[in-house]
Amino acid sequence: MSKKADEVLSQFKKPEEKGVTQSGKKLKIGIIGTGWIAESHAQSFKAMPDAEVVAAADLIPGKAEKFCQDWGLEGVRCYPSHKEMLDNENLDAVSVCTYNTTHAECTIYALEKGVHVLLEKPMCVTTEEAHAIIKAEKKSGKLLSIGFQPRFDANMKKIKEIVESGALGQVYYIQTGGGRRRGIPGGTFIEKSTGGIGAMGDIGCYSLDMVLNAVGYPKPLTVSGYMSAHFGTNPMYNGKDAARFDVEDFAAAFIRLEGGIVLDFRISWAMHLDTPGDTVILGTKAALRIPSTDCWNGSPGGPMTLYSDMAGSQVETVIPMIEGDFNGLFYDKIRSFLDAIHTGGESPVPTSQILYNQMIIDGIVMSAKLGREIELG
Ligand SMILES: NC(=O)c1ccc[n+]([C@@H]2O[C@H](COP(=O)([O-])OP(=O)(O)OC[C@H]3O[C@@H](n4cnc5c(N)ncnc54)[C@H](O)[C@@H]3O)[C@@H](O)[C@H]2O)c1
Repeated sequence: MSKKADEVLSQFKKPEEKGVTQSGKKLKIGIIGTGWIAESHAQSFKAMPDAEVVAAADLIPGKAEKFCQDWGLEGVRCYPSHKEMLDNENLDAVSVCTYNTTHAECTIYALEKGVHVLLEKPMCVTTEEAHAIIKAEKKSGKLLSIGFQPRFDANMKKIKEIVESGALGQVYYIQTGGGRRRGIPGGTFIEKSTGGIGAMGDIGCYSLDMVLNAVGYPKPLTVSGYMSAHFGTNPMYNGKDAARFDVEDFAAAFIRLEGGIVLDFRISWAMHLDTPGDTVILGTKAALRIPSTDCWNGSPGGPMTLYSDMAGSQVETVIPMIEGDFNGLFYDKIRSFLDAIHTGGESPVPTSQILYNQMIIDGIVMSAKLGREIELG
């Protein structure tokens, strides 16, 4: 078959077949942290013919073993921490599915062992950790991708296509965030020792990624941030979890980005309001409104609207939603990671971009503490 015909036909192959064609060997995968999100990693890896989960680790005794049993991962060797697993296994790649405060140490250790890493979002907790991760990534030459699966949503891709088409003209103001009226999670999300940050690390990083990715991830220059925890710490709203709640349940910030764009950001796990507003991208030729959702998880909540002028009249163009399978995004996240390993290609969600996401979050924490605007280095 000619190269051209092969290229045409390969378009119609299922994504998993493409990966196998590129390599021929099964990649050996380890899962670090076998909590809630690890399930989607395990299920997705199981669906890939070119990868198999061979090891799992969790700090809680027996948790990794139970996880493997529950999700039908047979013959998987289980370990009491990421270190034991990486010291004793010869892995190709790991998924880091731990709570935020151990993202950096697990990722750096894996990279030092010469293992590719798919790291759950947020990248980590502080900018300092982000720099340490990037240093280890560069030194190792291994692939590192951050687990922002909304990137693979066709509607999210459309936002970027619209901005890149020039339809908005020059973008100068962005309002983003999203939030919940009552939606405080529990578990490891609400304590500094495990979550490190609260609503920003859980859902705020999605809002930031949505708009920053659309406009090409300009560098953040200054941040004036605010954080509060009026609901999480109140037993009336948060029951017995209030006693251990010590992260933010609401954050807002005004951020100046390179290129003259300002970013107005708010995120909420709980407040006396249905939504802190839709995402809006204002440009010199047009503006885009992206509806929020009740339970913000990073994907548009309804059809987007483009506001522009045509022949002197103000017009509104509704951009229909592209239907998709939410669970398919988790599959795509894993698939894109494996494909990049096979091809030696670019990281699907690179740290060079997500560093700026992390700098904004860390900047909000610092600015809120100081009570003034700060410059980001
Ligand atoms: N992409 C998504 O849609 C999505 C959704 C939910 C959570 N997340 C992210 O996934 C991460 C985990 O969230 P979760 O809800 O699964 O948390 P979780 O608390 O349910 O699970 C985390 C597990 O990691 C283990 N762990 C921590 N440090 C470890 C180490 N050094 N070695 C081995 N195990 C270790 C803990 O014991 C725990 O069992 C968070 O960073 C969160 O932001 C992403």
